[in-house]
Amino acid sequence: MASRITPDFKSDLLTRIDIVELINRQVPLKRSGALYLACCPFHNEKTPSFTVTPSRQTYHCFGCGAHGNAIDFLIEYNHLNFPEAVEELAHHAGLEIPPDDGVQPSRGPDTRPLYTLLAETAQIYQRELRQNPQASRAIDYLKGRGVSGQIAATFGLGYAPPGWDFLIGRLGRSAEGLRRLIQAGLVIEQEGKHYDRFRDRILFPIRDRRGRIIGFGGRLLGEGKPKYLNSPETPVFHKGRELYGLHEALKAHREPQRLLVVEGYMDVIALAQFGIDFAVATLGTATTPDHLRLLLPQTPELVFCFDGDRAGREAAWKALETCLPQATGQQEIRFLFLPEGEDPDTLIRRAGPDDFLERIRLARPLSDFLLEHLSAGIDLNTLDGRARLGSRVAPLLERLPPGLLRDLLRDQLSRLVGMPLGNKHPDPPRPTRNRRQQPPLSAPQRPGATPLRLAIALLIQYPHLASDLRGLGEEWRQLSSPGIPLLRDLLATLASHPELGSAALLERWRETEDFNTLRRLADPRLLAHIPPDGLLPELLGTIQRLNQEALAARSGSLFNRASTSDWSPEEKAALRHAMQSSRQVPPEG
Ligand code: UTP
Ligand code: MN
Repeated sequence: MASRITPDFKSDLLTRIDIVELINRQVPLKRSGALYLACCPFHNEKTPSFTVTPSRQTYHCFGCGAHGNAIDFLIEYNHLNFPEAVEELAHHAGLEIPPDDGVQPSRGPDTRPLYTLLAETAQIYQRELRQNPQASRAIDYLKGRGVSGQIAATFGLGYAPPGWDFLIGRLGRSAEGLRRLIQAGLVIEQEGKHYDRFRDRILFPIRDRRGRIIGFGGRLLGEGKPKYLNSPETPVFHKGRELYGLHEALKAHREPQRLLVVEGYMDVIALAQFGIDFAVATLGTATTPDHLRLLLPQTPELVFCFDGDRAGREAAWKALETCLPQATGQQEIRFLFLPEGEDPDTLIRRAGPDDFLERIRLARPLSDFLLEHLSAGIDLNTLDGRARLGSRVAPLLERLPPGLLRDLLRDQLSRLVGMPLGNKHPDPPRPTRNRRQQPPLSAPQRPGATPLRLAIALLIQYPHLASDLRGLGEEWRQLSSPGIPLLRDLLATLASHPELGSAALLERWRETEDFNTLRRLADPRLLAHIPPDGLLPELLGTIQRLNQEALAARSGSLFNRASTSDWSPEEKAALRHAMQSSRQVPPEG
């Protein structure tokens, strides 16, 4: 039995699993900087010393020493044996282990007959598309829309012939068969009568991530209503949790560089036919948190694609709001708006894949879309306008988990609003192996860590900029933010080794706690929005903002407030003055 699980399979499995998600399902975790914390499930304790490190995909308890990866966790916590633990993870990762000698999984009702039935049905419908005398209309329709035979085969498209009992006649002649067809959502029962759900429609089999068929979408061959008919919720089909095309996308790319979320079946298919084989579609629903939990662990970049019209923008905003609680910044989330009246299917056929790829490349980052949306109708040239923007964004910042994105967004906002913004709920301190102690500030609030990450990102990516920092104020050194020691060490290293390039500099941190943080900040995409001649001003401005934060923290000044809506006239005057003087050096970004 153990021989089924090769080392390759095991490492593939572990890269597809998110240990945080896995553990959090059973032991609620609290985010704390780059780690997650909980009271240890392996020994009794009142204060949390159990940590989960997403970057390493391991857990570790500083109290009892329990330690391991996702497989170890299931073995230790769920008392599974090794093959069972692997099986469980494979299920979550959507990987198939070669079946063993008929040992059946023990938990929950047995859904295997449903899967078998659905697979059989898909085969029947697929065959009908080739053989049914009526199918020429379906084939003409598909051809008319430009769907190639090859892509139809890849996605297993089928045809449900007209008539009320085609499928019943094939699979529902016994009472048991009929019962299963009803359970699978393929047959409708009404007042004691039974009839096929899908009639005279082109069928799109919907697969789960593992590739099992769980339902169908069926399109009319022409105009009419409803244009698409979908399987109802069944024991194996929950449309808010599934994405059309995900299995095919993951089959085409084991670790997709990005995934594109579109609205329709035909969009996924048309894109794939033109080589954009990493698109998935929601099944006639808005994006749900479950969708995101499914997508985010699979890829470093998620691009939502919407119509450019009003409805599309509203749908995009809804998707953004759904994303916020899961948007750590670990993955990039972007929004692509298509020209009005186009969907991906029509656009790619008209303008071609290169045009579409370019649009993907230019898709708007979540933070841009958010700020743009909230700035609508606000005049940012006025102090009141800026204040209003600040108070609109603040509640959304609260919904973001602590992390890179929240920092960057706060930073972007503070640049728009023209002042540093305090961190209302400072991130809890991160436990580190060799804690570097900083004298605590006397101010009641710790200033936000925002410009800090930007400064570190700039330095790790463009180390030569360090030499231009000489002569700048150094108040920032007194800040107690977790990244300050790292910034100090980076600058010290660069002072003694000015020749170090980005990679060599990063390498020096390899064996340290900060390595993963640094590696993330070394991602060039983080700074892609800054033009080359803007890098130094950005760094200078960032350090200066840090200095301001340090001064503000010391005096508990108005800079620590997240919203300016409740400022007194005197404060506003002071702010205006501060903004004017801070505008001289450096130029604003
Ligand atoms: P659209 O109305 O945008 O259709 O619905 P489409 O994808 O462009 O379809 P074509 O190009 O006319 O064939 C987008 C998605 O909404 C769901 C389907 O999942 C569809 O792909 N939908 C739409 C339904 O479930 N039922 C409907 O009647 C219409
Ligand atoms: Mn369409």
